[in-house]
Amino acid sequence: MEKVEVRDAKGKLGVMVVGVGGAVASTFIAGTLSVRRGTGKPIGSITQLATIRLGRRNENRFPKIKEVVPLAELDDLVFGGWDIFEENIYQAAVHAEVLKKEDLDAVRDELEAISPIPAVFDQDFVKRLHGTHVKPEATRRRLTEQLREDIRRFRTENGCERIVVMWAASTEIYIPQSPEHESLEAFEQALDADRRDVIPPSMCYAYAAISEGAPFIMGAPNLCIDIPAMWELAGRENVPVCGKDYKTGQTLIKTVLSPMLKTRMLGLEGWFSTNILGNRDGEVLDDPGSFRTKEVSKLSVIDTILQPDVYPELYGNIYHKVRINYYPPRKDNKEGWDNIDIVGWLGYPMQLKVDFLCRDSILAAPLCLDLVLFSDLALRCGFSGIQSWLSFYFKSPVHTPDRVPEHDLFIQHTILKNTLRRIIGEPTLDYLD
Ligand SMILES: NC(=O)c1ccc[n+]([C@@H]2O[C@H](COP(=O)([O-])OP(=O)(O)OC[C@H]3O[C@@H](n4cnc5c(N)ncnc54)[C@H](O)[C@@H]3O)[C@@H](O)[C@H]2O)c1
Repeated sequence: MEKVEVRDAKGKLGVMVVGVGGAVASTFIAGTLSVRRGTGKPIGSITQLATIRLGRRNENRFPKIKEVVPLAELDDLVFGGWDIFEENIYQAAVHAEVLKKEDLDAVRDELEAISPIPAVFDQDFVKRLHGTHVKPEATRRRLTEQLREDIRRFRTENGCERIVVMWAASTEIYIPQSPEHESLEAFEQALDADRRDVIPPSMCYAYAAISEGAPFIMGAPNLCIDIPAMWELAGRENVPVCGKDYKTGQTLIKTVLSPMLKTRMLGLEGWFSTNILGNRDGEVLDDPGSFRTKEVSKLSVIDTILQPDVYPELYGNIYHKVRINYYPPRKDNKEGWDNIDIVGWLGYPMQLKVDFLCRDSILAAPLCLDLVLFSDLALRCGFSGIQSWLSFYFKSPVHTPDRVPEHDLFIQHTILKNTLRRIIGEPTLDYLD
């Protein structure tokens, strides 16, 4: 197996988060700071905790991933980013009410030192928010240039060798792919023509990041990097991109239970999923336009895993419904219910019920850390364009039209680990040994 040439992880890695004052971003940053001070445990993070088997099972070699894969050190991470509210990250994290005050106070000085850069924001794309810390009205092209300047300034001021940009901002309203997205040339013409209807702010951030050589991670279900124009740009600039929509709660469970039904050839008649959550994300998703983007992202999973075309008698007629209800008292502590109507021997019906009392940002934070470190690794490996080996982390993995996305969590996990083995020049495993 040919070893991939990996550039050293030396120097500072700038982590610029879009929506840096949000619940996910502030929980990710505060948590990472507390892990590196030795006061918190990185539970849920593959890069920090997981091992990787090398060689045959009887060789008993299970080093930690971070011991054998050249990842950036947590001490080298420098955090920053943009938000439409100007409070510093300590204040933002207190407002988000995810982490306890005592946990935030332990890293208060470092959180207070992070102040958001004014954002590129357009209320037509997020109806429920009224931003006050935004860049003055300008054309889409000009705003993109300003974001590039922000990235360059951050890189210089913090002495960063490399930058990763991650979207953890609100979900934008659903927009379909249009001709302006189909090639880089068409997209750049639309930028110059200030086509605000087809270029939401998220595309300005992605275009700016990729142009500056920074990998871009799309944590929300926005169309953004899921268009040929961005793949072309990422290919031209040799920059990795990945997305979209972190797979954290209900969909994580769906991508574990669906393969179970399929491997046992159990049928499925219906899957009803409903949630209550009361954070700002819930408020944004209460708007039908933003919910539609999320709904599309959540719905595709079951069909791709169960292959109704191949198994029409088992999965040809599934009723799949997803609901998200904004319910303020729950704050970030989402509750997700699933009612699953399954079918067994001779067509006899059965039911499965799942009640997941989770914490949205606690589930998302370790994914953010892993995605930042793996995207930086991909950059140093010279990988460019869509990083399908990171599909493990996403509800709706970005893919070109000629590829079928993999949704099964355990297949995704195997692909991720085999990619890491390839990077370090170890044989990939077929798991039969
Ligand atoms: N927590 C999870 O489990 C999970 C899972 C999948 C996806 N997501 C997505 O992650 C995103 C963040 O979730 P959250 O709970 O932190 O939400 P949040 O509302 O707490 O944070 C979003 C932040 O983005 C800011 N923002 C909005 N538009 C912006 C723009 N154009 N530029 C800069 N900042 C902007 C908001 O001011 C806010 O601070 C959402 O899109 C959510 O759907 C979260």
